[in-house]
Amino acid sequence: MLAPLSQGFQQRSRQGYRVTRAVVHPEVVLTSEGQTQERIALEPVARVMNDVKEPGMHQWKDVVSTIEFKPGFEESLDTIDDFSHILVLFWMHRSPQWDRSLAKTHPQRRADLPPVGVFATRSPVRPNPLGMSVVELAGREGNVLTVKGLDAIDGTPVVDVKPYLPGDSITDARVPEWVHRLRHDASD
Ligand SMILES: C[S@@+](CC[C@H](N)C(=O)[O-])C[C@H]1O[C@@H](n2cnc3c(N)ncnc32)[C@H](O)[C@@H]1O
Repeated sequence: MLAPLSQGFQQRSRQGYRVTRAVVHPEVVLTSEGQTQERIALEPVARVMNDVKEPGMHQWKDVVSTIEFKPGFEESLDTIDDFSHILVLFWMHRSPQWDRSLAKTHPQRRADLPPVGVFATRSPVRPNPLGMSVVELAGREGNVLTVKGLDAIDGTPVVDVKPYLPGDSITDARVPEWVHRLRHDASD
């Protein structure tokens, strides 16, 4: 058995900061073949609230959402509003279970685009349906962040947020041709 990443609900870390919650616990699972396989259990820290109730194509850049953190995380959000943009990591919980084992998919389910490996796409249908988006941080009130442009539906569990830093931007990144086609079609 591996030791948990955090030793639980201790009151103070070694650095003297208060530890409010412990959320990640790797487990070792023994498979029927006798091999060990590691799993990670994530506990959401927050939930998305907005007017988009179903997955699908939306004008996400215009969507205003709140990210409502569970009690106990207010101190962990201290000074985040010094940043104009944040990264939001979320669990796309409405991604169908039966789809998650697909190896390939058409980007944005468009049959006119070549099928590619799911890890070469941003599809919500993937083995671990984690989403990651850079969004504008419009405000913070206590445990609640207001963001613009988050492409997650109402009720989506959030597993982490981080500040967006200048070094996160790569202006000359190489991408395949289908990405240019999608961008071109979106601008029509
Ligand atoms: C293409 S994914 C990309 C997410 C993120 N920007 C990324 O790159 O990881 C965004 C789409 O996932 C779908 N979606 C959003 N929240 C979801 C949820 N909680 N469960 C299932 N699908 C979701 C919506 O249809 C949305 O257009």
